[in-house]
Amino acid sequence: MLATIKDIAQYVEQEVKLGVWLYNKRSSGKIQFLQLRDGTGFIQGVVVKNEVYEEVWESATQLTQESSLYVTGTVRKDDRSNIGYELSVTGIEIIQIAEEYPITKKEHGTDFLMDHRHLWIRTPRQRAILKIRGEIIRAIQEYLDQNGFTLVDPPILTPTSAEGTTNLFHTKYFDEDAYLSQSGQLYMEATAMALGRVYSFGPTFRAEKSKTRRHLIEFWMIEPEMAFIDHEENLKIQEEFVSHVVQSVLKNCKIELQTLDRDISKLEKVMAPFPRITYDDAIKFLQEEGHEIQWGDDFGAPHETAIAEKFEKPVFITHYPTELKAFYMKPDPNRPEVVLCADLIAPEGYGEIIGGSQRIDDPNLLEQRFKDHHLSIDSYKWYLDIRKYGSVPHSGFGLGLERTVAWICGLEHVRETIPFPRLLNRLYP
Ligand code: 4AD
Ligand code: MG
Repeated sequence: MLATIKDIAQYVEQEVKLGVWLYNKRSSGKIQFLQLRDGTGFIQGVVVKNEVYEEVWESATQLTQESSLYVTGTVRKDDRSNIGYELSVTGIEIIQIAEEYPITKKEHGTDFLMDHRHLWIRTPRQRAILKIRGEIIRAIQEYLDQNGFTLVDPPILTPTSAEGTTNLFHTKYFDEDAYLSQSGQLYMEATAMALGRVYSFGPTFRAEKSKTRRHLIEFWMIEPEMAFIDHEENLKIQEEFVSHVVQSVLKNCKIELQTLDRDISKLEKVMAPFPRITYDDAIKFLQEEGHEIQWGDDFGAPHETAIAEKFEKPVFITHYPTELKAFYMKPDPNRPEVVLCADLIAPEGYGEIIGGSQRIDDPNLLEQRFKDHHLSIDSYKWYLDIRKYGSVPHSGFGLGLERTVAWICGLEHVRETIPFPRLLNRLYP
C-alpha cells in the first residue's frame, strides 16, 4: 500500500511511495521543486539532477499541472516546510500527463471558478474548507451520539410543506403532486415520540428566488427533536452543541484554519452559555440605532448583523411574534402574541445558523393554526395524531450546515461550503 502525506512523519529517513498529483512546479536549472498533493496533504518533492537517473529527471521535466504520478523518495525533516518534511525524489512513474489545466495561478472570476467547481475543489483553500465541513459533521454526530440522540432519516419526497408554501420545490409523484423536503422536522416530531431524542442529517430544498451570500437551493440540515424538552432546555442544548462543534474544529483542523487565514481568537470565545435577547428588545435596540423597523417586522441581514455585533458569541433572539413564524411553534402561555422560539445568530455577520422552537402540543390549538395558515387538515392528519395519542411537551431545532461552515471558516459566501452548490440559476456541474 502507498504511504500518505498525512502520516509522513512516521517515515523520516525512510523511502516511501506516494500516489500524487502535481499542483505546481519550480525549477532552478539543476533542481526541480515539485509541489505534490495526495488528498491527505501537500508536500514538496525535490529532484536533484546530479543525484537521480536521467529518466527520473526527464519525467519530472515533462510533468504539467495536475499530472498524476507515483513518486518514490526519502522523507527528510525540513524546518522551512509548513508540514516540517520534504521528499528527496528518487523515482517517478507517470500515470497521466494532464492536459493544459484551466485553473492557473492567475485570478479567475467567480463564474469561471463555479463552472470548474469539479476542479476548483482541488486547490488548498477549497480542500481546507471541505476538510472542516467533514470535521463539523463528525463533531455534530459525536455530540448527538454522546447525548442520547438516535439518527433517523425523514423522507425527501413529501406531500406537504413544513416551512411555508412560498419556496416549495414541486415535482410529480406519479399522478400526485409532491415537494422536495424543506425540513424533516414534522417527521422528526413523530419519531421523537417513538425514540425520545432523535436527529436527522440530510439535504433540504428551498426554491428561494433570493441571490444572497447565505442562500442555497439545496442545503444540509441537522434537525434534533426531543420529547419532554421545553424552550429553555432546548436553548441549553443548542449552546452546548454549537460550542462543542466550534471547539472540535479548533482542536482538529489547525492546519486548515491556517490555510484559510481564519482569525481563531474569535472562535476561541465560542463557549456556552450564549447571550440572549428577546425580539422586543432587539426591535428597541435597532430603532435606537436608527433602523427603520417596527414590532411585527422580520429581521433582514443588516438587522441580524447589527444585533450580532453587540456580542462576541453567537446570540439567541427569542420570542418572535407568532404571526412571523411557522404554524407549529408554541405560543408563550403568558403572552400568546409571541412564540417560544429562538434563532441563533452567528457573530461576524454570518446571520442565522439555527432556527428552533418548542412545538404546539395541544391538538385543538394545532388544528386552529392549520386554519389560520390555510393548510388542509386532511393532509396533516398524521401530524395532528402526534398530539392525540400521548401528547407531550417537545422541542427541536435545525442547524444549517453550510452557514455554519461559512462562519467557522470565515468565508464570503456559502457557495464554497459545499462540494457542488445548487444556487439560483446554477445546476452545473
Ligand atoms: O429556520 P429554518 O427555516 O427552520 C426550519 O426549517 C425548522 N423546521 C428547523 C427545526 O426546528 N427542525 O431553517 C433552519 C436553518 C436556518 O437557521 C439556516 O441556518 C438554514 O437552516 N437555512 C439555509 N441555509 C442555506 N440556504 C438556505 N436557503 C437556507 N434556509 C435555511
Ligand atoms: Mg429561520
